[in-house]
Amino acid sequence: MLFGTAKWNREDHLEIGGVDTVELAKKYGTPLFVYDVQHIREMARGFKQTFKEEGIKNKVVYASKAFSCLAVYKLLQEESLSCDVVSGGELYTAIKGGMDPKEIAFHGNNKTKSELQMAIDEGVGTIIVDNFYEIQLLSEILHAEKKTQEILFRVTPGISAETHDYILTGQVDSKFGFDVASGQAEVALQQLLADDVFIVKGVHCHIGSQIFSPEGFIAATDIIFDLLNTWKTAFNYTVSVFNIGGGFGIQYTDSDTPVSPAEFVKTIIHQVKENCQKRDYPLPEIWIEPGRSIVAEAGMTLYSVGSQKEVPGVRKFVSVDGGMGDNIRPALYDATYDALVANRQIDAAETTELISIVGKYCESGDVLIREIDFPKVTDADIIALTSTGAYGYSMASNYNRNPKPAVVFVENGQEKLVVRRETFDDLIHLDCPVD
Ligand code: LLP
Repeated sequence: MLFGTAKWNREDHLEIGGVDTVELAKKYGTPLFVYDVQHIREMARGFKQTFKEEGIKNKVVYASKAFSCLAVYKLLQEESLSCDVVSGGELYTAIKGGMDPKEIAFHGNNKTKSELQMAIDEGVGTIIVDNFYEIQLLSEILHAEKKTQEILFRVTPGISAETHDYILTGQVDSKFGFDVASGQAEVALQQLLADDVFIVKGVHCHIGSQIFSPEGFIAATDIIFDLLNTWKTAFNYTVSVFNIGGGFGIQYTDSDTPVSPAEFVKTIIHQVKENCQKRDYPLPEIWIEPGRSIVAEAGMTLYSVGSQKEVPGVRKFVSVDGGMGDNIRPALYDATYDALVANRQIDAAETTELISIVGKYCESGDVLIREIDFPKVTDADIIALTSTGAYGYSMASNYNRNPKPAVVFVENGQEKLVVRRETFDDLIHLDCPVD
């Protein structure tokens, strides 16, 4: 599937951002992540625009975990997006990338004391408090520093969105957030309001990831506003921020049919407005935290074809020069992808064969695409796996001591190397010398 500026050029090569992917593969080697910068900008602008049309104060908070590197943060600043971080490492990268600390929100179910201290020292705008232990740690630090901190606190509304179990987060049986049903969320609010180091701006909730329809967001909004309404009466407390998280689904293959980002956002806005009107509740700012929906379809991975093995009557394996080290998602979540031959457009009339595209890692589970009808390829071909921009590079590993790929941004006919390929020396640079 082609997204954004991707198209076939005169040489019949796949081109993105006006740059020939075959040339990129030659110049930077494979595997190679390539990002269509204009596509990322359009996704970011789309979210902003929807809020603008609806006249709602908002923050579009990019979820760094989807893909983080210095260049991403420059792009976010250019598009007036905020970001979240979930570790000291992401926070460090965001700050080095020039993000205004005030525009950073810090998430996580087990932020360490040193990470919280780092966030306070750096002046992070919002900390999203997840649990009672964190309330205590953060309170101690803030009292010691004689500082106050704007916070949201994360509530778990107890709903199940339809997605893979490992990426569900809004259900009761979750390690994240203060549970609504058991009353933990209310106890947390009381503790937070009683401690004057906390400026309690509002609530946060994230129901899961790769979600295709808005129902889960509607249900979560209703549950949370029921709660907010009781808190208004009981504690005279109203939120100024309602953060509904991210999780908007994208297309990996033809069979993925998510509603558009604009539709997700419009539905959420309408549901919030309706709840507020019904209850005479002051309309809060709405924050969202899209990660995947901003970068996934903008990214693709280029691989060179290597060995092939045909097991007669069973299956043909086509191996590429990357795999689970640069894309763990098929192995971890049974994730599906689509692929193209970057150096020639597949002719609809061309004979295809059913193949598995597999990686070079020493695991049978190192599969990129389990089954795809694909034209015959040789070691002269470059395969492009599409929609790999989210949770590919960010979850990459050095398994089997394979170096991580390079990352290139392309826009308006220009390419820019934003993360260089790891070298073998990079692989041993943390190893202490052996006497
Ligand atoms: N906000 C919070 C609090 C989150 O936990 C997440 C994702 C997001 C925002 C962004 O969700 P997105 O819009 O990207 O779906 N590695 C998995 C995805 C894990 C997502 C974890 N949290 C994958 O490759 O599918």
